Amino acid sequence: MAEHPQHVAVVTGATGGIGTAIVHRLVVGGAVVIAHYASNSDRASKLQREVWELGGTCSMVQADLRTEEGVGQLVDSVDDLLRSQPTHALHALVNNAAKLLGPSFSDATPAQFDEYFALNVKAPFFLTQRLVTRMHPGGSIVNVSSAGAHFSSPGDIVYAMSKAAIESLTMNAAEWLATRAIRINTVIPGFTDDGHIAFRIDEVREYLSTFAVLGGISDPETVAEAVAFLLSAHASRTTGATLDVSGGSTLGARPAPHLSLRALAATRSIDQPGTGGNQGAERSDEDSIVYE
Ligand SMILES: NC(=O)c1ccc[n+]([C@@H]2O[C@H](COP(=O)([O-])OP(=O)(O)OC[C@H]3O[C@@H](n4cnc5c(N)ncnc54)[C@H](OP(=O)(O)O)[C@@H]3O)[C@@H](O)[C@H]2O)c1
Repeated sequence: MAEHPQHVAVVTGATGGIGTAIVHRLVVGGAVVIAHYASNSDRASKLQREVWELGGTCSMVQADLRTEEGVGQLVDSVDDLLRSQPTHALHALVNNAAKLLGPSFSDATPAQFDEYFALNVKAPFFLTQRLVTRMHPGGSIVNVSSAGAHFSSPGDIVYAMSKAAIESLTMNAAEWLATRAIRINTVIPGFTDDGHIAFRIDEVREYLSTFAVLGGISDPETVAEAVAFLLSAHASRTTGATLDVSGGSTLGARPAPHLSLRALAATRSIDQPGTGGNQGAERSDEDSIVYE
């Protein structure tokens, strides 16, 4: 996006590990970023400083996207920026914020189900519906899915279902959005070191790396690069598509049977990775490990 420095990109979940990398990448590419977060105001302030150090511009917007009001607040902040900066044009939306992993088929409650779908599905749907009316022709949307939607995940069934739904959003919205010259695509990460403490534990990394046929854990920058590509003119003929950066985690490889994250969790004070990246390790039993 470097050739269009006044392009505005909205990134949800910017305080998470992957969201932060996406913001950095888009700022380096010349975008003005509206970086959304929910609760981590320390991380939000740090991200804003990092953007300034990169020589970029970024406004932080706090909103709970589980609610209609929260979605409205983010849309209003886009309107405020476009009104105050008439030379700016909304060019990109990255639906990245999510509640990660869990709950299991046996334990899920209706309230949990609603919470996952409110944040992971309903918010991207209505943000997309509302922001495309403000979007510049040639604009682009990227939805962040998960490899977990592509293999059997009874322990994370609600999360996996929500990610299947966001991929369906991509596919089903593409034709209508094309009439406005707007593209929409999905990126599929596998396990990605988002800064969660669990990724610092060798046994956890070993276990999680067995999901990918390429082995290893992804870094957030790799996901961000894929997002930037899909937003760029290099992907001008790509819409309704998925770009899999999961290291082949969607190909059906199964975790090594001698490893079990649940067993690890029983001996160590960790919960599942990817449930809040930079916020530290204090979690409730509700967030217990489900991968095994
Ligand atoms: N990390 C992985 O292994 C992995 C694998 C596959 C797919 N993904 C996908 O990649 C994306 C980013 O994941 P991540 O690992 O970077 O996650 P993360 O570090 O846990 O960050 C989650 C982000 O979502 C925000 N969020 C949480 N609750 C919210 C709410 N109620 N309203 C609005 N925003 C809320 C958080 O805001 P605050 O921090 O301000 O509360 C944070 O910015 C997600 O869509 C996830 O499903 C991740």
